[in-house]
Amino acid sequence: MLRSSAKRIGDGRLQVDQVSEQLPDWAPEGVDLTRASAARMYDYYLGGAHNFAVDRELAGQALALFPDGQLIAQANRAFLHRAVRFLLSQGVRQFIDVGSGIPTAGNVHEIAQQVDPEARVLYVDHDPVAVAHSELILRDNRRARVLQADLRHPKEILDAPILTDLLDLTQPVGVLMVSVLHFVSEADHPQDTIARFRDLLSSGSYLAISQGTGEGRHAAAKRLKELYSATSTPVTYRTREQIAALFDGWELADPGVVWVPQWRPDWPDDVGSDPASSLVGAAVGRKP
Ligand SMILES: C[S@@+](CC[C@H](N)C(=O)[O-])C[C@H]1O[C@@H](n2cnc3c(N)ncnc32)[C@H](O)[C@@H]1O
Repeated sequence: MLRSSAKRIGDGRLQVDQVSEQLPDWAPEGVDLTRASAARMYDYYLGGAHNFAVDRELAGQALALFPDGQLIAQANRAFLHRAVRFLLSQGVRQFIDVGSGIPTAGNVHEIAQQVDPEARVLYVDHDPVAVAHSELILRDNRRARVLQADLRHPKEILDAPILTDLLDLTQPVGVLMVSVLHFVSEADHPQDTIARFRDLLSSGSYLAISQGTGEGRHAAAKRLKELYSATSTPVTYRTREQIAALFDGWELADPGVVWVPQWRPDWPDDVGSDPASSLVGAAVGRKP
């Protein structure tokens, strides 16, 4: 919640008392303490400790709109885990996790390297806190690296030497865009970006997407969108039909585009009584 030392000053920023809110050791230089970040808000939803007053304030407002917001974040995270395990079962041993976020429990390299210690993971995020914390936890792991880059500029990712150094592009790669594309507007042509990944990767590669739909609970979804406009990453919802369209040139794996708890649940009971209340659509596709 808003602390007495923080005041709203327009355009969604907070004026924060610099004495009480100083950059902690783990935060890279230059982080803006007055603007909330989607990465740090998500960290807060998941119970992490890498967030600031400005993030907690906005995340608190989001949770007032969606009291089950933390459960939705956990359901999304569980989808990521199931999708990675599915790709591993299909023989995929290399991953690019785009919009990977601040590391938390069950990161992609942990799941993948448990199955195959040789598995390789390139994390990509544009958020400096997400990247700094990833660098820290990966410092002793030669097969998992992180790249600071923006998905809206795919060349930054696809042409990065770290990508070709780490991954063998003649072999299948699993591309994970989990809970990130709702931060990419239509004006930034996510479909073209995905096509560029598809064209670069070998057949047998996979794409996993989860994305906020805004379907149902329209008033709260509209207000949530207004809240996120105060971050550097405004929200663009896509319906399940629009999510399916992102898989142009990929074959959708069963069960196609579904609500996030419905995608190959570990146990049918995991789906819960109202999967649509997640508001998040999910699917996995294979490059033929
Ligand atoms: C909701 S978190 C999801 C984290 C993780 N993928 C997961 O599902 O647990 C979204 C992440 O996407 C990142 N992100 C948003 N827009 C991005 C962009 N244009 N390029 C790269 N990363 C982006 C944010 O910084 C944040 O870490």
